[in-house]
Amino acid sequence: MAEQTVLVAIDIGTTKVCVLIGEMAARGGVDVIGIGLAASDGLRKGVVIDIDRTVQSVASAVEAAERISGLKVRSAFVGISGSHIASQNSRGMVAVSGSSRHDVDRGDTVRAIEAARAVSIPNTREILHVVPRGYVVDGQEGVRDPIGMTAVRLEVETHIVTASSTSVQNLTKCVQRAGVEIDELVLAPLATAEATLNDEDRELGVCLADIGGDTTDVAIFQDGSISHCATIPMGGRSVTADLGAGDRDLEVRRGRNRGGRRHKSTAGRPRPHRRRIAP
Ligand SMILES: Nc1ncnc2c1ncn2[C@@H]1O[C@H](COP(=O)(O)OP(=O)(O)OP(=O)(O)O)[C@@H](O)[C@H]1O
Ligand SMILES: [Mg+2]
Repeated sequence: MAEQTVLVAIDIGTTKVCVLIGEMAARGGVDVIGIGLAASDGLRKGVVIDIDRTVQSVASAVEAAERISGLKVRSAFVGISGSHIASQNSRGMVAVSGSSRHDVDRGDTVRAIEAARAVSIPNTREILHVVPRGYVVDGQEGVRDPIGMTAVRLEVETHIVTASSTSVQNLTKCVQRAGVEIDELVLAPLATAEATLNDEDRELGVCLADIGGDTTDVAIFQDGSISHCATIPMGGRSVTADLGAGDRDLEVRRGRNRGGRRHKSTAGRPRPHRRRIAP
């Protein structure tokens, strides 16, 4: 099987790193031919806080997937999330200059998306994705594919996802030090949506929530496309920690109640008379 038919994906989470090796099937879709898992403890809230530990986790997950598939991983699509992710909607507009009269062509849509990309973001952040949500052709909203339509003005509604440049660089460094080049960084909730939602879900409107160890990724889809995404810095570990704290508190109270004379229950006793003291 030729190497270009193989795709590798890496998900670097706060509790585990997961590597999948897939082979494009002739009938369509992807057959998973390798999977590697490794515990992860170099991230907090989706952000790398220990490069060496993260590199170790990525390397051992990659090695496990390589062993199963019998292939060497050279590059991969890598998921990114974390509380540093932000998103906004932006509109881009261009005059149609299609080759045949005023028919919209691929070049027009690319120029419109480039125009939408021109948003002001701080120089500490970078654009991860510009996802087209729909087109407006000469004022007509809700056009999904404008190519071939006759028009003078083309507008595009896009969803722009940005990330902290430092977080992107640290994640990139961890993957590269584990011996893997990055094909593309993909926003994790977008990848999760590809795996779990169908066109009808997106059309009807849906909120996707992926509850991880330290983070919860949220993506909202309306009218067939993404309109908002965010990462909430709370996950399963927060629930476990809160339950643990509640449990300890309950144990302490039970201990006090069992503790004998000093902590005897006052239930059933008449309440002591309290005299009100004027201020
Ligand atoms: N079988 C299970 N039943 C209930 N909870 C589980 C189960 N397996 C894992 N969990 C919980 O799921 C969480 C881990 O989820 P997941 O593997 O999606 O996180 P992650 O991708 O490593 O982290 P993050 O996405 O926050 O970076 C942990 O809090 C764990 O306790
Ligand atoms: Mg996760």
